[in-house]
Amino acid sequence: MRRKTVVANWKMHGNLASNRQLLEGYVERLSSLAHVDVVVCVPYPYLAQAQLLLKDTAIAWGAQNLSKDPVGAFTGEVSASMLRDFGATHVIIGHSERATAYCESDENVATKFMQAKVHGITPILCVGETLIEREAGVMDLVVAKQLDTIINTYGASVFADAIISYEPIWAIGTGLAATPVQAQSMHEFIRGRISALDEAAAQSVKILYGGSVNPQNAVQLFVSQDIDGGLIGRCSLTAQEFEGICRAAN
Ligand code: PGA
Repeated sequence: MRRKTVVANWKMHGNLASNRQLLEGYVERLSSLAHVDVVVCVPYPYLAQAQLLLKDTAIAWGAQNLSKDPVGAFTGEVSASMLRDFGATHVIIGHSERATAYCESDENVATKFMQAKVHGITPILCVGETLIEREAGVMDLVVAKQLDTIINTYGASVFADAIISYEPIWAIGTGLAATPVQAQSMHEFIRGRISALDEAAAQSVKILYGGSVNPQNAVQLFVSQDIDGGLIGRCSLTAQEFEGICRAAN
């Protein structure tokens, strides 16, 4: 059975003082949870702080984006090896907030995914459809295209030990999570697509659900066979709510 993983996505929230409080809260509340992997993805400037405060704990840390290039004249970018320098083990890739606001293409996302893999960082690849696409019934096609850009370039085996997060865009930050049935159905579709090409990769890839997960709906979501945990935005910003979600996974 795959161990559940819960990832906090702080987005662009926090400061040194509030982060310290939140991370100390995580450590205090989550240390006794032995059956769940917890990761916190912080804004870049706070990687050193996460490293300092989490270094002797079971909580891992990472970033919310990385450069598609390894090194060079790319003003404002942060490379995979820089993330490694700060002990980052995970990185979120292709979050829809980046795709929408910064015109991130599927091709760029695929290159970033590989940069993370090459540097030994676990990529957390976000996929998901808009509300219009769901209402039109084409969500499977949309998600398949997002996956296929990576599969066609690097092969399905790159998903071994990686993380995919299914995040329907209509569920992010709206308070309206996908139902367990909707989520499980998409997770099964994603695993099936990888399984058709590489069964071992399909069994080892963790598929998280993201979008308005809270302590109340977490158990119902996590109990589904193909839902291996969650990517948590708003409810990761208070230690108590995040604990509720991590307990559900545990
Ligand atoms: P949310 O965000 O939990 O606030 O909906 C999830 C995400 O965007 O990763």
